[in-house]
This record gives sequence, structure tokens and C-alpha cells, in this order.
Amino acid sequence: MDTKTKYLGLELKSPIIAGSCGLTSDIDNLVRLEEAGAGAVILKSVFEEQIIYDIKRNTHVVAPTDNYGVSYEYIAQHVADDSIAKYFSLIREAKKRLSIPVIASINCFSYENWLTYANKFVDAGCDALELNMAILAYETSTSADDVERTFNNIINTLRKYISIPISIKVGPYFTDMAKQMQQLSWMGIHGVTMFNKSMQIDIDPENMKVCNASKLSNPDEIYNTLRWVAILSKVMRCDISASTGVYTADDVVKMLLAGAKTVQVVSCLYKNGVDYMRELNEGLRAWMQRHNYESPNQFRGALAVKPNEKASLWMRTQFMKYFAEIA
Ligand SMILES: Cc1cc2nc3c(=O)[nH]c(=O)nc-3n(C[C@H](O)[C@H](O)[C@H](O)COP(=O)(O)O)c2cc1C
Repeated sequence: MDTKTKYLGLELKSPIIAGSCGLTSDIDNLVRLEEAGAGAVILKSVFEEQIIYDIKRNTHVVAPTDNYGVSYEYIAQHVADDSIAKYFSLIREAKKRLSIPVIASINCFSYENWLTYANKFVDAGCDALELNMAILAYETSTSADDVERTFNNIINTLRKYISIPISIKVGPYFTDMAKQMQQLSWMGIHGVTMFNKSMQIDIDPENMKVCNASKLSNPDEIYNTLRWVAILSKVMRCDISASTGVYTADDVVKMLLAGAKTVQVVSCLYKNGVDYMRELNEGLRAWMQRHNYESPNQFRGALAVKPNEKASLWMRTQFMKYFAEIA
């Protein structure tokens, strides 16, 4: 029995991946994650603003002011001059020390300027690129069409510049989720990561300040991802990596049964330590042994919505079961 998985065209020893976060910006953690059986690691995101800052510093190009304005000024003051160089050395060091795939991540919101820089990631040696596209329509003037256009522009331009596999990490907020995800999967990308958690704000009433809410997920946040993976896994033309709320080996199995190619974990590593990756892998293997499976390919997607089934009817059936139980 083995847990080998092909993801973004790469060979992984396990479908369980360490998702992008602060833990994956440290080389010792990356080594421990590999030792504990991680299938791949996704490095902490580099921010588009850091790249733009670096481009300007090195080429003396005038910074784009309309798109970046305040954020560019902020980053110019707060980001160390060599932050991109450090990111590239992290990729190189990780590639030297690890045998599992190393996936770099960019947090981006526009498609201008920095894309010409994208091949530097390839040169640094990463095996794939995950684009963390945390785009929400915060402005009253922004429509769903604007957001869709931004996604399309970034992906179409990226495909011109990047020669390694690309996955797109999206948030959980789309009115027409199924349509948008399927269309993304038709754009020649290799994977979609569903879903990122958007940063939540909180308010501290005592000090009357806006602050950040807890960064970690709760275990019951798994259900939104689980539902969409089950609905979409058979109708997407690229891999799905499931993210958010995965805490246990059973959670990993659920995502695979729903049809995910890989499952990303972050909050549970913060709560239990990076070596917890070992427990997740052991739990997955124990479940496969109990159910007589030799490979995740034998059960992946077994409980997903079938390609000829209507997702709305499938969901309605689940709703009626739920309703019957609470009535
Ligand atoms: C402290 C912290 C830092 C994170 N940094 C990044 C990041 O740099 N890039 C990214 O794409 N996602 C980042 N994330 C989001 C995670 O990759 C993941 O999508 C999210 O936490 C949901 O998964 P989880 O429930 O397993 O935590 C971060 C999450 C946490 C908790």
C-alpha cells in the first residue's frame, strides 16, 4: 500500500501538503515536514508589493502609483531591501535539502509589471507556483465582472511567462462558485486550491481599535470546502487541492472521498506542531488498511457528485435528509 499522488503533474509521496504559512518560511520546519511525510510544501507567500518594490529598486523604474499607491509606500517603508532575495534563497535551500516538491506562492491582486519577473521563481528552482489570489470586491464600484476579469487577465498573462505548473488559490466567496471554478479549470492552469481564508478583522471595544481576528481555522470550517470539492471534483479539468479546517486524518480522508487530489493543512500544524504531519499520514494509511485500499486513486472522489448528476438535486437530497433528521 502507498499514498503516492500525482498533483500538478508532480509525483508526491502523500496527498497531505503543508499549506502556505509562516511555518513554511523556515528551512528547519520544511525539513521536519518532509521527515514527517508531507507530500509537498508550499512556501509562505511573497507579496506582489514586495516584488514591485524589488523591481523598482533594481531597475529604477518608476513605481506604478495608481494601482499600488498607499500599499507601495507602506511596503517600501516596511519591507527589507533584500526580502525577495531571501525568498529566492529559501527556495534554493529548500530544493537543496528536500526531495519533495517545493511550491512557491505569490499573493497577488493585479497583472501588470511583476509578471515579467515571474520566471525568477522558476530560475530559483521551485517545482510549481501557487498564486494566492485574495481578491474581494471591497469597493462599491467593483462588480463581479471586474473580479472575474482580473482573474482572467492574471491567469492569461501568467501562462505566457511561466513554464512550471501553476495553481490558483481562491477564496470561498463567489456568487456563481461552480461556474467560476470550472471556467478557471479550463484556462490551462494545473490546479485550484479551495479555499484560502480571508483575513478577518475584529474590533477591540475597550481600546476602540480595529484589530485582526484569530488567524487559525476552527475544525468546523471544513464543511464549506468539503461541499464544494464534492460538487466540483468531477467537473473540473485540473486538480483540486482542499484547504481550510482540516485537522485530523479522517478530515483528510473525507476530502479525498470528495475528490481532492491533495489536502493542505496549516492551522492544525500551528496547534499541534509540524511533526503532527506524521500522525496525519499514519492515520490516512491506517484508514486505507482498514478499508483494503492500496492507493488513494482507488477511493478518490467515491463520494463526489457524479458527472451526470445535478449538483442542485444532490444538495437538495442532502437537505431533505438533514430536514428529516431534525424534524
Ligand atoms: C499564520 C498564517 C499565515 C498564513 N499565510 C499564508 C500565506 O502567506 N499565503 C497563503 O496563501 N495562505 C496563507 N495562510 C492561509 C493558509 O495557507 C490556509 O489556506 C488557511 O489557513 C486555511 O487552512 P487551515 O484551516 O488548514 O489553516 C496563512 C494562514 C495562517 C494561519
